[in-house]
Amino acid sequence: MTNRMYLSNQISSNSPSKFDLLSSSASASSNLESEKSCSTILTFPSTSSASNSSSSFVLRQLRFCDRPAVEQICNESFPIQYPECWYDEVVSGSLTSTGLFDGPILAAIIVSETKTIFECNSEDQDILSEPINNSVVYILSLAVAKPYRRQGLATRLLDNLFNTIVMAPPYPRAVFLHVLSTNSPALSFYKMHGFQWHASLVNYYRIGDEYGDGCTYVKYTNGSRPPITFYEILKMFGTTICMPIKAVCKFLSF
Ligand SMILES: CC(C)(COP(=O)(O)OP(=O)(O)OC[C@H]1O[C@@H](n2cnc3c(N)ncnc32)[C@H](O)[C@@H]1OP(=O)(O)O)[C@@H](O)C(=O)NCCC(=O)NCCS
Repeated sequence: MTNRMYLSNQISSNSPSKFDLLSSSASASSNLESEKSCSTILTFPSTSSASNSSSSFVLRQLRFCDRPAVEQICNESFPIQYPECWYDEVVSGSLTSTGLFDGPILAAIIVSETKTIFECNSEDQDILSEPINNSVVYILSLAVAKPYRRQGLATRLLDNLFNTIVMAPPYPRAVFLHVLSTNSPALSFYKMHGFQWHASLVNYYRIGDEYGDGCTYVKYTNGSRPPITFYEILKMFGTTICMPIKAVCKFLSF
């Protein structure tokens, strides 16, 4: 599966929080075992009655029974339609898929995967400067149901990703994502959480009969830093050449 097929998305806070995280690394078989206790409902509350007390939200791995609710959030959040196989993969346990629940209602999701830089698509492999096969986290999707937006839920999901995946072995060197270049709320969200623009991807998304440009945003983690830019090289070169010339001029002026 390529990144291009999907609109992808992503964030960070400090307290592991009021949310109860039910193991995000649980296996697909445990998903099946817990089907009986899973009773996600599909009707969202009105914006005014959506819970505004974050303490009542529960964070847990997405299961097979959450699939219709995941589909509903994605359909209302993204201008593209994910293929059916994407939803299957999200709830199968093969990706890191976490939901934030307001009682039985799925209010927000984040889907990510950890892979090595050499396993990433070619257009993403230059996010790291080190020529070694470090691991990175790719955020495939981040979405909050409309009545729950601007209540910090996406921030909670991003924080949880950082606390459970990024700050743990193999200590990924970057978290990155692709976003539609016109998606201002998402761009503000990522920038606010320390992600930086890395590249523009012309016609990256197909939306109906049209194409939309994408951008890659990256947050460097665990001591990593962005690759050195041409401008930085020029600046260093300029400093190296200019310093001795300045020193000579200063010496001659005395
Ligand atoms: C982007 C999205 C995930 C943000 O979720 P959220 O739970 O509302 O985000 P938070 O409440 O944690 O917001 C944190 C910060 O992000 C920024 N932000 C979020 N929504 C914003 C908006 N509509 N306009 C401007 N800034 C916004 C703000 O800086 C906000 O802080 P503030 O509320 O103190 O101003 C949500 O709007 C969404 O699901 N959008 C549709 C799907 C999508 O675009 N996903 C990302 C694709 S890459």
